[in-house]
Amino acid sequence: MSAPISSTLGPGSASPTASPAPLPGAVALDLTGRTALVTGAAGGIGRACALRLAAAGARVRAVDRAAEGLETLVGEAAGLPGSVDPRLLDLTDLDAAEGAAAGADVLVNNAGLQLVRPIEDFPPDVFHTVLTVMLEAPFRLIRGALPHMYAQGWGRIVNLSSVHGLRASAFKSAYVAAKHGLEGLSKTAALEGAPHGVTSNCVSPGYVRTPLVERQVADQAAAHGIPRERVLSEVLLKDSALKRLIEPEEVAEAVLYLCTPQASFITGTSLTLDGGWTAH
Ligand SMILES: NC(=O)c1ccc[n+]([C@@H]2O[C@H](COP(=O)([O-])OP(=O)(O)OC[C@H]3O[C@@H](n4cnc5c(N)ncnc54)[C@H](O)[C@@H]3O)[C@@H](O)[C@H]2O)c1
Repeated sequence: MSAPISSTLGPGSASPTASPAPLPGAVALDLTGRTALVTGAAGGIGRACALRLAAAGARVRAVDRAAEGLETLVGEAAGLPGSVDPRLLDLTDLDAAEGAAAGADVLVNNAGLQLVRPIEDFPPDVFHTVLTVMLEAPFRLIRGALPHMYAQGWGRIVNLSSVHGLRASAFKSAYVAAKHGLEGLSKTAALEGAPHGVTSNCVSPGYVRTPLVERQVADQAAAHGIPRERVLSEVLLKDSALKRLIEPEEVAEAVLYLCTPQASFITGTSLTLDGGWTAH
């Protein structure tokens, strides 16, 4: 005979609508005393990550080439438990990028750019820039951050990849190549970092509501030969089981989780936030 339902529920769970009581050992999203470097922090996902990490108490080095966005970010971070230190830097300056990462406990490689064009029309100089900012700069930033992380026996590397680090889409040769490379770099850093207490993971979202996505709607319409208003349903969300864009704050929450002590056994993997895209 099965037990009555009420007797299988623990204290505090009498109502299905009540908030659950915190579990013992629940994840403490606290980075007090940690220094975190976030690239591409002036907007979109990077901004959300910088604010979330500062809300968790971290001292955030906010790297971007966009001065105005960094200034806005500093204002938004006022009053948070942590702090935001703006660092104006173009990541194509690879030596400067490597230098900027020295002393960071947490590194979030996030900066990125996109161009949607068929390969035969894709400008080689843009291909080079995309690979530089989205693959070579993360390598140099990791290289700059590791000595301090290894010396203290603790570090967290989170690489903003994409579902395009795991799947290709037409007309995104540079972006897909860079993200597939980043997934490989992240796994290699995980293997080398493991004996030193350093984890390295990718967070791989589907389409996030950011300026990067807003900017590509016109290009997608042209490349696919459809009107702009059909791009969201017929291109961007075609393979997603969940038919909505993700919010940058949802991505930032996953990034922060990977930086917690409870995530110390998660390394060398990709946390997909893709609404079921890669379930196909
Ligand atoms: N938006 C999405 O749908 C989506 C999905 C999956 C993955 N991602 C990834 O997330 C990351 C952030 O994307 P986003 O949508 O927030 O983009 P975004 O365009 O809103 O922000 C990117 C930031 O990177 C900065 N940046 C670009 N080139 C730079 C350079 N050379 N030096 C310094 N800073 C530079 C920009 O100034 C900008 O602030 C990217 O790596 C992107 O590939 C985005």
